Amino acid sequence: MYANGDAPRRRHRTGAASGLLALALLAGGCTAAGGGVEGAPGAAGLRDPYFPKLGNGGYDVRHYALSLAYDPGTGRLDGTAEITARADQDLSAFNLDLAGLRVSGATVDGVRAAYNRAGNELTLRPREDIRDGAEFTVTVTYTGVPEPITDADGSEEGWLRTAGGAVAVGEPEGSMTWFPGNHHPADKATYDLTLTVPAGLEGLSNGVRTERRTERDGRVTTVWHTAEPMASYLATVAIGRYETASATGPASLPVLTAAEPSVAAGSAALRGEIPAILARQAERFGPYPFSAAGAIVTVDGTLGYALETQTRPVFPAASFDRTTLVHELAHQWFGNSVTPATWRDLWLNEGFATYAEWLYSEEYEGVPARTHFERAFAQDANWTFPPAAPPAAENLFDPPVYQRGAMVLHKLRETVGDAAFDEILRGWPAKYRHANASTDDFTAYAESVAGKDLDALWKVWLYGDDRPSAP
Ligand code: ARG
Ligand code: ZN
Repeated sequence: MYANGDAPRRRHRTGAASGLLALALLAGGCTAAGGGVEGAPGAAGLRDPYFPKLGNGGYDVRHYALSLAYDPGTGRLDGTAEITARADQDLSAFNLDLAGLRVSGATVDGVRAAYNRAGNELTLRPREDIRDGAEFTVTVTYTGVPEPITDADGSEEGWLRTAGGAVAVGEPEGSMTWFPGNHHPADKATYDLTLTVPAGLEGLSNGVRTERRTERDGRVTTVWHTAEPMASYLATVAIGRYETASATGPASLPVLTAAEPSVAAGSAALRGEIPAILARQAERFGPYPFSAAGAIVTVDGTLGYALETQTRPVFPAASFDRTTLVHELAHQWFGNSVTPATWRDLWLNEGFATYAEWLYSEEYEGVPARTHFERAFAQDANWTFPPAAPPAAENLFDPPVYQRGAMVLHKLRETVGDAAFDEILRGWPAKYRHANASTDDFTAYAESVAGKDLDALWKVWLYGDDRPSAP
């Protein structure tokens, strides 16, 4: 499927008689005949400071069309990924990230492509080289029992098996356990996901559910459309005996929530607050950036944390409280619409989502943000490193990224005043809507609103190792 409904642009043929011959010629260093493209392999990673091999160079994904069938009994996943991408160099080969699973076939523009696996890299070698700027479609069929990834901080992510189902989460790199892709947040794309599950189960994902049908064999297929760009770490799937509820949010937004039966009644009232929380956040942060919303509440025991999966965050029941809900909904603006350029910029997600909690508490619980700031200031755990420079991957989700991230924002508020700060809260998600942004982008933007340089503020609160003498 093409994001824009266009057919792919045809590439110039290399003129080689067969794919094998072309491979032999390229391997031998000879030029392809007939004035064709002579490409080079795309990079095997985007050199992220913490995950250098995450993502791949040489192309930009426009759209993922994923078809997944899952059998909770065996744990087996059968998938087809049809990926539409645009080359940004002449390509002889390119990589997708994929962990585990068995690839059974691959094509590029409908023609069988050679492929091989090494670590989490799936390398595809199309029969003809791809010209810089050309749009092309890759199809990968795969199967197997997905294996979760244990993160540097010890938490589990990827395709996680639950009692009778599964839940898939991918921050920062778990999505490669269930579909091949360009799994760095810098490459956002639209998605269509078709999910087939056994009779009696419900399948859920991001975005708008456009179809629900029963197959002849009784299995249930649902189709999910994500119209706005999404970083792959925000893709999700949940399979189980979910009960669903629909509501309408601000500007006719469809809100679909789901909960496993044992936590459905207990979570219903809070799920019902989503439209009102989003409406208030839209007043503060600007229009809600997506065409769907909701939440997925799972039973405890599998997922160790809540995640802001796009449009429909997932929660273990124990984390489904109002503060965490406010946090994950705020991520829809901060993280999901404005996405970090690299994983070093994660405080732009977690600092804002934490500050959204403080704003909520200030407004509805009467606890001033200044009080939250002083409490965070007093805690030693928040002073182990500066928010804009986590020392290693295992520290990405440590307290300084969240709490000091929010403290930076509170100091900014006190420095520029409430009016300018409100303008930043709305203007930042507007300026980088559906795009990527770095810490430097943020400091430059904040200074442009403030009308002055804020070096002293960044030096101490964003980059400083030491706790200042006074909050
Ligand atoms: N972004 C999630 C949140 O809302 C936390 C994800 C934690 N992931 C991890 N691998 N430790 O705060
Ligand atoms: Zn968060």
